[in-house]
Amino acid sequence: MAARRRIVAGNWKMNLDHAAAVALTEGVAAGAAGCSGVELILCPPAVYLEAVAAALQLADGNSPSGVTLGGQNMSDQPKGAFTGEIAAAMLLDVGCRSCILGHSERRTLFGETDEIVNTKTKAALAAGLTPIVCVGETLEEREQDRTAAVVSEQIAGSLAGLSAADLARTIIAYEPVWAIGTGKVATPEQAQAVHALIRQQLASLADADTAAQVVIQYGGSVKPDNAAVLAAQPDIDGALVGGASLKADDFLAIASHFAAAD
Ligand code: PGA
Repeated sequence: MAARRRIVAGNWKMNLDHAAAVALTEGVAAGAAGCSGVELILCPPAVYLEAVAAALQLADGNSPSGVTLGGQNMSDQPKGAFTGEIAAAMLLDVGCRSCILGHSERRTLFGETDEIVNTKTKAALAAGLTPIVCVGETLEEREQDRTAAVVSEQIAGSLAGLSAADLARTIIAYEPVWAIGTGKVATPEQAQAVHALIRQQLASLADADTAAQVVIQYGGSVKPDNAAVLAAQPDIDGALVGGASLKADDFLAIASHFAAAD
């Protein structure tokens, strides 16, 4: 079987302004050639999607640099009276190929449950967008030795009812909540252990071949100086990067470690 794809995504969250978003995009696009073998995704705030698409010179979702565009969140509804929401078709319309779903900030601050993440995941797949489904335990849950149970419940709930083909198209991001934005990164062993469990669970949800194809990213304080050891783990296929994705050089340095790990 071909080697799994490696994918590094930048989650800009609610940061930057129009000019800074364009400058960051240009910086990433200019350096992307140095990270061959790794797919790069930029996930700007929704109001800057079109500006980033233009800076990437996107056409049909493809750019000369190979960098693609993703949303940070979307509605599970196709259209209609849902003030403030964005549909999967709208993300596609402005050039997105993927969308982050069920990020821990969405789960904890905006009440997203596994059921909601599941309906969004199905809506993304049905529309032709790649979902980046986030899971991860809190510090309390880890300290209570409940990491495996919590992550497994999130995976089962968020991915319920997906066919093997849909699972193969889905990206999973394991992001321990205690590592997000805190500077506390999971050790490579801690991250690998959870990634291996997730892959085992995917094999039982679908089959071993499908599980072997699924890209599982690690997220939570990934920086240029800790990316190499994470990238060296057999089941860590990329990263979902928050803070360090706001600097082109840092984001590219992280991506280059995943390129070098092949
Ligand atoms: P961080 O965020 O890299 O700033 O920890 C990661 C994320 O929330 O996806």
